[in-house]
Amino acid sequence: MNVQGFGLGLRTEHYADFLETKPAVDWLEVISENYMVPGGKPIARLDAIRRDFRVVMHGVSLSIGSTDALDLSYLRELKALAARIEPAWISDHLCWTGVDHHNLHDLLPMPYTEVALRHLTARVQQVQDVLGRRVLLENVSSYVTFMTDEMSEWTFIAELLKRADCELLLDVNNVYVSSRNHGFDPRTFIDAMPRERVRQIHLAGHEDHGTHVVDTHDHPVCDDVWALYAHTVKRLGAVPTMIERDDHIPALGELLDELDQARRVQAEALA
Ligand SMILES: [Fe+2]
Repeated sequence: MNVQGFGLGLRTEHYADFLETKPAVDWLEVISENYMVPGGKPIARLDAIRRDFRVVMHGVSLSIGSTDALDLSYLRELKALAARIEPAWISDHLCWTGVDHHNLHDLLPMPYTEVALRHLTARVQQVQDVLGRRVLLENVSSYVTFMTDEMSEWTFIAELLKRADCELLLDVNNVYVSSRNHGFDPRTFIDAMPRERVRQIHLAGHEDHGTHVVDTHDHPVCDDVWALYAHTVKRLGAVPTMIERDDHIPALGELLDELDQARRVQAEALA
């Protein structure tokens, strides 16, 4: 099963709206960990949603970049959830969330080195072997870089996609946030992404503090990110796109309006 078009992140505030009004979204992205519990309300709700909407799964706990061993019981639960709800794909983040069994509850950037590339390649392959399918990894927003970096983030990602035979969830807002924080041209990043491996796009809002930008997902998408999205569409085509809002979650109608704007920007960019 595949999905195209425009989606939204499924948030508990909107369960009833989705079930009762069946709004025109092409698919929904569900946070995997919210449903990796046996029985109970969350999974029953998701089963109901799944009858009307196609879904993709998005995780936050894989910690693919960590040096801790991969959590195989987590992967088995993830696989079981996928068997139940049949998502078009499964994604997580290109990051590490802890080390030495301490969870830092943050999506931390990788050092962009050959050693890290080899480490990630082996782990992505292990994950894909367990799940029996390719995974998507998402570029994260960052605020610091490592002194040991040997290459740019975009070179690192493009190389990983090729070596590990995985796919990309391209977060256009994260590219923008990191470009402001580190002082690079975000179009250089976008232009380096291999078209055939970009399966999904995230759009989101952030907090602009002038000297730095924080990836908060609590604002509408800003004009600069819409412009970068238009550039991305010209470069990569009509990649399935969604809006992420995780804080100050508005009424569903407001997010549907923002999704219409994404439709307009994509149509104009393709015209
Ligand atoms: Fe994202």
